[in-house]
Amino acid sequence: MNTNIGFDLEIFNKAQFKVVGAFESKDKSSASLSWSDKNLAKMFKMVQGSENFTGASGSNFTFTAPDLSTVYIVGLGNKTKAKDEQLRKAIASTYKAIHKKKVKSICIDVASFNCVGSILNASAIVKEALDLAAYTFEKYMQEKTKTTFKSIDLFIADKKIKRSIDKTIEKVENVTSSVNFARDLVNEAPNKLHSEEYAKRVEKDVKTNLKGVKTKILGKADLKKQKMGCFLAVNAGSAYEPRLVHLTYTPKKVTKNTKHIALVGKGLTFDTGGYSLKPSKSMVGMKFDMGGSATVYGAFRAAVLNNSPYKITCILGITDNAVNEHATMPDSIVTARNGKTVEILNTDAEGRLVLADCLDYVSELKPDTIIDAATLTGACLVALGTQVCAVLGNHDKTIKELLSFAKKSDEYMWQLPIIPEWQNDMKSKIADLKNIGSTGYAGTATAACFLENFIGEGINWAHLDIAGVCDSQSHLSYCPTKGGSGLIVRTLHNYLMNGK
Ligand code: BES
Ligand code: MG
Ligand code: ZN
Repeated sequence: MNTNIGFDLEIFNKAQFKVVGAFESKDKSSASLSWSDKNLAKMFKMVQGSENFTGASGSNFTFTAPDLSTVYIVGLGNKTKAKDEQLRKAIASTYKAIHKKKVKSICIDVASFNCVGSILNASAIVKEALDLAAYTFEKYMQEKTKTTFKSIDLFIADKKIKRSIDKTIEKVENVTSSVNFARDLVNEAPNKLHSEEYAKRVEKDVKTNLKGVKTKILGKADLKKQKMGCFLAVNAGSAYEPRLVHLTYTPKKVTKNTKHIALVGKGLTFDTGGYSLKPSKSMVGMKFDMGGSATVYGAFRAAVLNNSPYKITCILGITDNAVNEHATMPDSIVTARNGKTVEILNTDAEGRLVLADCLDYVSELKPDTIIDAATLTGACLVALGTQVCAVLGNHDKTIKELLSFAKKSDEYMWQLPIIPEWQNDMKSKIADLKNIGSTGYAGTATAACFLENFIGEGINWAHLDIAGVCDSQSHLSYCPTKGGSGLIVRTLHNYLMNGK
């Protein structure tokens, strides 16, 4: 959403539609206002029925001011209890409630919403919530949502912080545009966004927006040269070539101590299951199986735009999992890039095969840390539902850090264990490894156990299973009710900016 920042009350006064926040008083009997426009606050008290509006969270009150502008009051609940996420949700719900109103100018009094301490933080959250809530995916619809206003004004009643506000808003925009870029990728149809097109789209975005980032794209012949037998086995039944997108960002200041973080994402533009075919109902929606790659690319993009101090490598493993006469048959044995042989007992456990070769490939660059993201297992939804992301890995500190950044970003993440019994269970009787566990239990963890075999010696690794959170987060007003959520991009961006 386009926003203008204004520091004079005038911008608020002349708006046709004014948005202000209100907190609930301690005894919940009345609304407590910290509006920048004191006269407007006085007027509110004189409006009939206003005494019944207590500022309870989720409630609203609208009145017409003497100049005929509309004043829309958003209840935020108890001020001391309201935190970033409540503010984010309140602003997003407000946007969704008002965006169809036929008004030319909207202005938000940011100070009236400040329940997070600083006006700078409040501005950042308001901007973030507006950008995320205004996202739509309507390119294939003839009738599109239209707003009568071109932008939303943010009134910030503190001129002294102009410079830091401008900087903050720009940083937020770098994140929200990247979250929305990731959502667009997830929402694309598989016949439009096949592997070759996907790589092109990322390449183009890097060229236009990410100055200084190096791009390397590997095709089928390159993967053969690389001996990526697992990745190629997944692509075997496809009408399209596989793509391994390799992006490198180097910060301006580099010393020999500069940390190198590698991101790896599962990019299955569609997962039919292969010969271990999915039933029709489970197959619908599998265009989102590239969500891991969209998530790591989104985070990478935001971190580059915001000048992360770390060296970052981003690897996207892209193909579909389709069926034709060349498709890999169950019982096949293939050799991974690292030389390990894998018995493929289920062609629907394909994400781990693509990731295996990508993880080994990136390990060779000797990063300090590898983080991969994937819509890897249906079992993740059984374990943690649709609202929580799973994290597993070989390094507790990295996992703890990710959990803490997830918390700071108001995204749900929970650790699942890796135990030696499950690691052993991934061994095959006739090859080094098999691609599914023996029992079907602990599916998210056994998948992670498989991946662990492809992490280079001494590299810290964390795996994020985003199968639950990647799409349709209808409980979050700043996410579309259906389609790509863009969740975890913010957590990973925070990690890439501020990780230890
Ligand atoms: N892409 C799926 C995982 C998935 C399934 C995500 C349902 C979201 C909803 C993955 O490739 C897959 O098919 N995994 C199998 C693994 C099994 C064969 C061991 C699964 O979860 O059923
Ligand atoms: Mg599958
Ligand atoms: Zn899959």
